[in-house]
Amino acid sequence: MRFSSALAMTVAAACGVAAYDLRQLYSFEGGDAVAFCKAWKCNCINYTPADDTLYFLSAGCHPGDYTGANADTEVLASCAFTADGHVPVSFNDENAAETGATLMRFSLTAVTVALVAASGAAAYDLRELYSFQGGNGTTFCKTWKCNCINYEPKNTTMYFYSAQCYPGDYSGKHNTSQVRSSKALQPTNSHLTSDSFQALATCAFTADGKTPVSYSAQVAKQSKAKIVKD
Ligand SMILES: *[C@@H]1O[C@H](CO)[C@@H](O)[C@H](O)[C@H]1NC(C)=O
Ligand SMILES: *[C@@H]1O[C@H](CO)[C@@H](O)[C@H](O)[C@H]1NC(C)=O
Ligand SMILES: *[C@@H]1O[C@H](CO)[C@@H](O)[C@H](O)[C@H]1NC(C)=O
Repeated sequence: MRFSSALAMTVAAACGVAAYDLRQLYSFEGGDAVAFCKAWKCNCINYTPADDTLYFLSAGCHPGDYTGANADTEVLASCAFTADGHVPVSFNDENAAETGATLMRFSLTAVTVALVAASGAAAYDLRELYSFQGGNGTTFCKTWKCNCINYEPKNTTMYFYSAQCYPGDYSGKHNTSQVRSSKALQPTNSHLTSDSFQALATCAFTADGKTPVSYSAQVAKQSKAKIVKD
């Protein structure tokens, strides 16, 4: 291992995630690592693997190399999907290609440390129904996920847990295509105006890696979405 296990354990503890460390060292252009990392996470969470049994697991990106040096030109980054909620499948290469990052020649690969988040997500349903104006459900949901994964809670013990967003309401109605495809379809729901659509969305952070805490209200504000109350 080229970096100290102390660092690895710190990262693992800080992320509550791990068993796998898929981080790789990339160089990027532009000089703004914070902006690059936001773009990396945003692109990762919205990536669509050809294998549709895979779903988003995690995106990591930190300025600098394994020692924290070269923070203006390099980042340690990962982008992982999963089929079972535990074993990560790396989409680092794909995400790097899409965000214009270049793999560093001497990067560390396949270091196994850490723990993978026990996904446990199914035990919680934090979905809320939101209405939004303009655009379409697909673009709204991409924005929602970007805003969520890049949200910075004031409570810094909180770290990203999950972001989900599906166009339409609980029965799949009021999604973009349905509203767009039929002018005759008048909103029956008082929360809908003629050009507003709905999405079921969540944004959660966690302090312990197990219990999600909803940050949907904050992300809704950033995403200009309004909650639909029953
Ligand atoms: C949503 O909007 C984007 C950007 O305008 C467009 O590329 C995409 O095809 C639209 N999707 C649907 C389902 O209408
Ligand atoms: C941050 O969140 C944790 C977990 O919910 C909580 O125990 C802690 O008191 C919070 N800290 C602050 C400063 O609010
Ligand atoms: C929107 O709803 C229509 C009709 O229920 C359905 O055919 C379509 O697949 C839905 N589109 C999305 C993006 O969920």
